[in-house]
Amino acid sequence: MKKSVRKAVIAGNWKMNKTPSETTALINEMKPLVADADCDVVLCVPYIDIPAAVEAAKGSNIKIGAENIHFKASGAYTGEISADMLKEAGVEYVVVGHSERRTYFGETDQTVNLRTLAAVNAGFTAIVCVGETLEQRELGYTETLLKYQTKMALTNVKPEQLKNVIIAYEPVWAIGTGVTATAEQADEGNGYVRAAIAEAYGADAAEAVTVQYGGSMNAKNADELLEKVNVDGGLIGGASLKAEDFSIIVKAASK
Ligand code: PGA
Repeated sequence: MKKSVRKAVIAGNWKMNKTPSETTALINEMKPLVADADCDVVLCVPYIDIPAAVEAAKGSNIKIGAENIHFKASGAYTGEISADMLKEAGVEYVVVGHSERRTYFGETDQTVNLRTLAAVNAGFTAIVCVGETLEQRELGYTETLLKYQTKMALTNVKPEQLKNVIIAYEPVWAIGTGVTATAEQADEGNGYVRAAIAEAYGADAAEAVTVQYGGSMNAKNADELLEKVNVDGGLIGGASLKAEDFSIIVKAASK
């Protein structure tokens, strides 16, 4: 982390876990454990859990995010959620382009870009996910792919909107598998993302942007990952469902 120039952000991504009542209980358990964090603390939760999450987090340092956003303002898009709906519900962050969305729900670099634009234009902070598959890595395309995905996702995002963008480098092979990238691999991947921002927006913008690592980050490996200069925080799946583990990661980012 390089806290002198950019924000450290630890964000939980609950995925399809927890009911509203479980949400209330888990956030109430987390609140005292992360109260003295010296980093931003975010929980991205299922849509149905947002009201309970916002209510439970009230008055604390925990911010609430959604796990996706639709790019149209309203209309015939069954199952989707608009920026206005999220705004009114009290959401401040939105995850965009998670590899599970890309893999299971047919999201493309183009829809990820549209959703990113919808998020930043509505004033949310977008947590934009990029990452290579194992096959792409083994073929030597990691750098090319990460730069391409980053630039595609940010197409038409204005320089002044970059302050509302976080990129999460999440190697697909490390998500939910228990296989974490080494700290060196995480630093290198995050560095490729930062280089893509430098190419598109200039060196100063690249220095300022928060780039998280995600993929089996947990209470045991967080310290080592977050020590790396390019790792400005984490997007945490499994470990964000356990108050104690999540708080240990927040503490690691607070050093
Ligand atoms: P994981 O998920 O921490 O369970 O690997 C990370 C993510 O998908 O954001």
